[in-house]
Amino acid sequence: MTDTGREARGEGREEVPHEEQREGVPTPRAPHPASRLLEATNVSRDYAMGPEAVHAVRGVTLSIAEGEYVAIVGPSGCGKSTLLNLLGAIDRPTGGSVSIGGRRVESMSDREATRFRLLHVGFVFQRFYLMPTLTARENVELPMAEAGVAKAERQGRARELLAYVGLAQRERHRPPQLSGGEQQRVAIARALANHPALLLADEPTGELDARTGAEVIALFDRLNRDGTTIVVVTHDEELARAVGRVVHMRDGVIVDEDRGPRS
Ligand SMILES: Nc1ncnc2c1ncn2[C@@H]1O[C@H](COP(=O)(O)OP(=O)(O)OP(=O)(O)O)[C@@H](O)[C@H]1O
Ligand SMILES: [Mg+2]
Repeated sequence: MTDTGREARGEGREEVPHEEQREGVPTPRAPHPASRLLEATNVSRDYAMGPEAVHAVRGVTLSIAEGEYVAIVGPSGCGKSTLLNLLGAIDRPTGGSVSIGGRRVESMSDREATRFRLLHVGFVFQRFYLMPTLTARENVELPMAEAGVAKAERQGRARELLAYVGLAQRERHRPPQLSGGEQQRVAIARALANHPALLLADEPTGELDARTGAEVIALFDRLNRDGTTIVVVTHDEELARAVGRVVHMRDGVIVDEDRGPRS
């Protein structure tokens, strides 16, 4: 995903990295060891709180290659979610730079950032955030509808994705009719709807018991083996043991890194 020349000139705004690979389940991309999908350079995020400022992230430099599976761990309040939101273009840094597939996040307008996230970044949250009145399939279809995918195609892809996460038999269920682990798997299928280059997850097993958490861990494992780049924030030691690289944060900075079994 190198498009830096055009990026430097501010062109190619609607460009879709890996357009040629927008087929298949879930989001297969040939990992290229030299290709850095995500680059955060001396990135910081302050929150203005009246006269005080909270320095939530204080100069993080982090580079993530295509196909990597990375966990960010650390004590509550150390800035993990703030950093993940910066890495996924949900939020803009106060200082430093974030680029995803060569696109600089801090130079995007709000509209561009929204469109960019819709097409290139999948998010999974602790609390699922499914639409309770829609069926599982309709929930998975939503990001495709927003991206302008035709109805027949999005229904077909939503079915494929639900089958991929093991929920082919649940497509007509609404979230209240699903277990927590099933709801999270629908949320993962929804995150994959537009073939994102990057899957970001904030405490994806945080609301689940050990057994259903293990289903999500197994699913992430399979997704990563199938080529999806994953960055996950977690307190779950089982999940942190499943990744290729563990980044340790404390007080807004990265203090340590170690290799996991998937490296
Ligand atoms: N919108 C905000 N406005 C002001 N301060 C914030 C905001 N969001 C987060 N913070 C502060 O920034 C710091 C980092 O918060 P963050 O949510 O990134 O921590 P975290 O590592 O994800 O914690 P947890 O493990 O509890 O989820 C905290 O001190 C928090 O209070
Ligand atoms: Mg958090």
